[in-house]
Amino acid sequence: MTQLIVSEATLTFGGLNALTKVDVTIEPGIITSIIGPNGAGKTSLLNCISGFYHPTSGRIRYGQRNLTHASPHQISTIGIARAFQNLELFRGLSVLDNLLLARHQNLDYSIFHAVIYCGKAARIEAENRAYVEKVIDFMELEPYRKKMVGNLSYGVQKRVEVARALTLAPNLLLLDEPMAGMNIEEKEDIVRFILDLKKEWGITVVLVEHDLGVVMDISDRIYVLDFGEVIGSGTPQEVAANPKVIEAYIGEE
Ligand SMILES: Nc1ncnc2c1ncn2[C@@H]1O[C@H](COP(=O)(O)OP(=O)(O)O)[C@@H](O)[C@H]1O
Ligand SMILES: [Mg+2]
Repeated sequence: MTQLIVSEATLTFGGLNALTKVDVTIEPGIITSIIGPNGAGKTSLLNCISGFYHPTSGRIRYGQRNLTHASPHQISTIGIARAFQNLELFRGLSVLDNLLLARHQNLDYSIFHAVIYCGKAARIEAENRAYVEKVIDFMELEPYRKKMVGNLSYGVQKRVEVARALTLAPNLLLLDEPMAGMNIEEKEDIVRFILDLKKEWGITVVLVEHDLGVVMDISDRIYVLDFGEVIGSGTPQEVAANPKVIEAYIGEE
């Protein structure tokens, strides 16, 4: 069980600080939510953790590893996966093919092995397939497995995006607004999946989400960002009672 620690992370674009000296600790085995108004820096923080951006200053550690300058690929191979706010799926491929492809890419499956298709490659192929089936089953995507992603409803596509991240078998899962644009029933499904991922799969979850009801319900810990700074953190009760948070964020709703 590995702790992820972001220390004093600052991320600058031109003259603008998307993040300013952000300190965030992600404890293993729990659900940590990151909330804050639009433009607060939530996606930027996930981008830094997943290696798409590197903090201009500050550090990111995952257990003994320094991730500050690690690439997205390095980060995915150590078990940190991410579902994107904007879907990163191949719209012209089926759900099954999207997931198999993601699993191949993530695991750095060797083309050489694929070409000669030796015993080892065949075994890996079977394992990949089995794991993807487990993900499809868990995310209740069975009815859509052969359907082209581009033809599915937005809510189902968002679910496929979460499944795509899960194909890596992550220890730490970063979810950027996985419920955005969903109706209440679809949200309830995602909430159930997130809670099961924590309880049954032992996955550490970082959730960026706008729906405060959901966040207050399922988070063990919450960080509140505003203009790139952490203005409050703690349990849902602590955060809800924090005057700075109420003023900057909750009071707005
Ligand atoms: N690649 C980028 N180039 C320039 N500015 C960016 C970039 N990414 C994010 N920003 C800026 O950083 C701030 C935080 O953005 P973001 O992390 O996307 O916020 P959130 O996810 O909380 O809505 C915003 O002002 C946004 O315009
Ligand atoms: Mg965002």
